[in-house]
Amino acid sequence: RALAPAAGPLAGRRILVTAGPTHEAIDPVRYIANRSSGRQGFAIAEALADLGAAVTLIAGPVTLPTPAGVRRVDVVSAQDMADAVTRALPADAAVMVAAVADWRVEAAPQKVKKGDAPPAIVLTENVDILATLAHGDERPRMVVGFAAETQNVVEHAVAKRLRKGADWIVANDVSGDVFGGDANTVHLATADGVEHWERLPKDEVARRLAARIADALQGS
Ligand code: CTP
Ligand code: CA
Repeated sequence: RALAPAAGPLAGRRILVTAGPTHEAIDPVRYIANRSSGRQGFAIAEALADLGAAVTLIAGPVTLPTPAGVRRVDVVSAQDMADAVTRALPADAAVMVAAVADWRVEAAPQKVKKGDAPPAIVLTENVDILATLAHGDERPRMVVGFAAETQNVVEHAVAKRLRKGADWIVANDVSGDVFGGDANTVHLATADGVEHWERLPKDEVARRLAARIADALQGS
């Protein structure tokens, strides 16, 4: 399959996708993470490749198989992910599905031992990969972000779209069982307003989003 010429509405398009959590080291054996399974992002990478795109999937630590026809770059921390995104440019579109850690830890060089007082974990804000890409010189023509929210989902999505400079934000309510689950209820915030999609399997969300990206890139 890798040798067959790509066909489909996204043939000839380069698209990068970020997916999964990031891990931020506390010391050589411990880290801070989040509940992202990577499934929605992997499904989107697969759906884009199925439409003919040359997809680079920049994946945080997850235990998922690489979708057929997708080039995968594994990373651990948010900083690794930011570097991998820069290396994957230029791209026609970017879909930033990863649950990037908002903070990194001032990691200890050696394993912290429990004999002493509990160590303080000092957090420093990580670079915003999506905002940096959307405001940068090599901005892909389409930049799509995700937003994981537990309340005021739509309001936060609309605000994030503007703040981050994304074309679209796909917002999902993570107050339920979305992490690791099969289905997702999403709201798509664009310059034209907010669409409320019905609850769908994650691979159907992926197929619809990929088709919309193909439409948006058409004729450019
Ligand atoms: N994102 C990113 N780099 C970060 C943080 C987030 O690229 N350091 C991206 C995510 O991949 C997602 C979007 O930004 O596409 C929104 O992430 P989210 O965590 O919902 O938003 P934040 O701006 O981090 O705000 P908060 O966590 O406070 O809701
Ligand atoms: Ca965040």
